[in-house]
Amino acid sequence: MVEEIIRIENLTKRYISGIIKQKETYGALDVSFDIKRGEILSLVGESGSGKSTVANMILRLLKPTMGNIILLGKNIKEYKIKKYYENVQGIFQDPYSSYNFFYKVDHVLNQAISHSLSWVDIAEKERIISNTLEIVGLRGTETLGRFPHQLSGGQLQRILLARCLLFKPRLLIADEPTSMVDACARAEILNLLKKLKDKSGISVLFITHDIGQAQYISDRVIVMKKGEIVERGPTNDVFLNPKNDYTQNLLASVPSIYRKWA
Ligand SMILES: Nc1ncnc2c1ncn2[C@@H]1O[C@H](COP(=O)(O)OP(=O)(O)OP(=O)(O)O)[C@@H](O)[C@H]1O
Ligand SMILES: [Mg+2]
Repeated sequence: MVEEIIRIENLTKRYISGIIKQKETYGALDVSFDIKRGEILSLVGESGSGKSTVANMILRLLKPTMGNIILLGKNIKEYKIKKYYENVQGIFQDPYSSYNFFYKVDHVLNQAISHSLSWVDIAEKERIISNTLEIVGLRGTETLGRFPHQLSGGQLQRILLARCLLFKPRLLIADEPTSMVDACARAEILNLLKKLKDKSGISVLFITHDIGQAQYISDRVIVMKKGEIVERGPTNDVFLNPKNDYTQNLLASVPSIYRKWA
């Protein structure tokens, strides 16, 4: 049996606005799904469907209103934060926002390694950083010692991916990681995620509203609409034979070969 990495059970989020007269602004989110070892699961859906809300709850950046998140058989409430982030890491849409532009890019890597491998000496840390940069297709000589503005969006995103890998996580949450990089870097990042899955068995929750990317990268797909899962299944089943009207409409809006297939 394939190992279950994470299980999401009736995860619900209600956003409340207003201090005195509190009003529920968004109360429909309720999702359940799991991700297996070495699996890429894509979460697709229109803007506002709740994809990032799910991602942020899994990353413990948002507190769920209700429901459970079970990581490696244990409720996340039972994890110490440090231990949790050794298992679950995230990359986001805007790589620029993860850097402090006063620091060289080394800073994000040094910070991560001093958390994940605090006992290792400096020379060994440098070696690990350089090897991890190689895994994401970068050379230390071309990236370390530079300031964020001296690198491209694709390079910055790959450094952030390297940062995640320093923790050797079991699960990577990738929330639209390619939407702010150019087409070439986009392909590189997608291929890199596939390679990581194949070589190190990492599991990925890949969030996108780009059906083409989801079709290319994922083993299974979940389609969300207004906080609910309307369709799910193996990628080809969902995209080649969509059952739900909403998925059919999503596919119809893609000017590509999928429409011919569907
Ligand atoms: N902090 C917040 N307070 C109130 N409502 C919020 C908050 N964050 C998100 N929402 C609402 O929750 C819903 C889902 O938002 P979310 O960001 O999860 O969507 P998304 O699927 O990630 O969209 P996108 O594709 O644009 O990133 C939206 O209707 C949004 O307005
Ligand atoms: Mg989002």
